Amino acid sequence: MVEKDEIAQNRVLKIITENTKHGISFFDRDLVLVACNHRFAELLQFPSAFCEPGTPMRDLFYFNARRGEYGPGDIDEQVSQRMALAREFSAHKFERVRPDGMVIEVIGTPIDEGFVTTYTDITELRKAQKNLVEAEKMASLGSLVGGVAHEINTPLGICITAVSHFQTQVAQLDARFRSGEITEDDLTEFISTAREATQLLETNMNRAARLVKSFKQVAVDQTSEERRKIDLLKYFEEVLVSLTPELKKTRVKVNLEIPDGLSMDTYPGPLAQITTNLIMNSLIHGYAGGTEHEGAIRIAALQEQENRIRIQYEDTGRGIEADALGKVFDPFFTTNRDNGGSGLGLHIVYNLVTQKLAGTIECDSKPGSGTTFTLSLPVS
Ligand SMILES: Nc1ncnc2c1ncn2[C@@H]1O[C@H](COP(=O)(O)OP(=O)(O)OP(=O)(O)O)[C@@H](O)[C@H]1O
Ligand SMILES: [Mg+2]
Repeated sequence: MVEKDEIAQNRVLKIITENTKHGISFFDRDLVLVACNHRFAELLQFPSAFCEPGTPMRDLFYFNARRGEYGPGDIDEQVSQRMALAREFSAHKFERVRPDGMVIEVIGTPIDEGFVTTYTDITELRKAQKNLVEAEKMASLGSLVGGVAHEINTPLGICITAVSHFQTQVAQLDARFRSGEITEDDLTEFISTAREATQLLETNMNRAARLVKSFKQVAVDQTSEERRKIDLLKYFEEVLVSLTPELKKTRVKVNLEIPDGLSMDTYPGPLAQITTNLIMNSLIHGYAGGTEHEGAIRIAALQEQENRIRIQYEDTGRGIEADALGKVFDPFFTTNRDNGGSGLGLHIVYNLVTQKLAGTIECDSKPGSGTTFTLSLPVS
């Protein structure tokens, strides 16, 4: 009776292991194959002779190394490295890309008797994920380009109207001049129209040019500048010197709380741009861009982990409304469009922090109690 049960159980086990899409292998403590399913041989393309119980793992490794599965290099070394790893009997999970592009996820689970490993073909999954990321990139590029076109259209539209109005005025003046009817009043009026038109042109063309400049910075350039080691305190002091003209127009003081000797290996240009954008935002939005409000900006830096530095930027300004808080890093989100804000400032900051500097940034704020940005950056 017991025997019959065992036979039945073995059959059940066999049915399960032979009807799964995962390859399964079981090696004992001597790294000799105890059992495997048919999918194991199929996925890894091992001849069936290699999949008999009793096959040493070393033979399988040699077979793989010889057919170039582990890339170029010394075959004995490739095998002994893998044997040493296997002998650790520790849980492992990795992805192997086979020479034909197939991606196999390998998960090893140690047990008392050895270890069981599963092999799963995740080629399609990885492909789909890559396509999704690409599609996402294209979509965000599309909406960015759409946004830029929209933003640039406004000042351009104003320029076109101004120019065509100006042309009409020129034609009228010309006609009066030719017919000899021109008066001093005509000329005075023309001069004032000309002045208005050129002013409008200048303002709006500048605005369009600024938009194009900001837009160019949105696409973070990954290569243009060298990294170097900077002393954070000295570095922020220099950035502040360059902002003195702006700060002088206000009653806002900037305090640095950075320990002596704290340094990091990073891209100095982007860090300066980030700081400048944050400070200009505090002056313009937090303190309404005037001398009316007294204010304090605090920039504190500290080593938070062995390889991470935290920079906390705080102002005591008017803060950000809850519904706007989630959008501050979005391209073209601005509450200051009427005064020439493009809404690209914080989007550029976000891209620089997350892409160029490989860090993170968060914004926290409550209306009436200031705004905080917390950056976490790698030391090197
Ligand atoms: N320190 C701050 N205090 C209050 N509001 C802020 C602060 N920083 C940013 N904001 C809000 O976030 C919005 C987006 O900022 P962002 O820098 O992206 O654009 P902007 O300053 O309006 O325009 P740009 O920087 O392109 O000239 C601002 O319009 C403002 O409403
Ligand atoms: Mg800004």
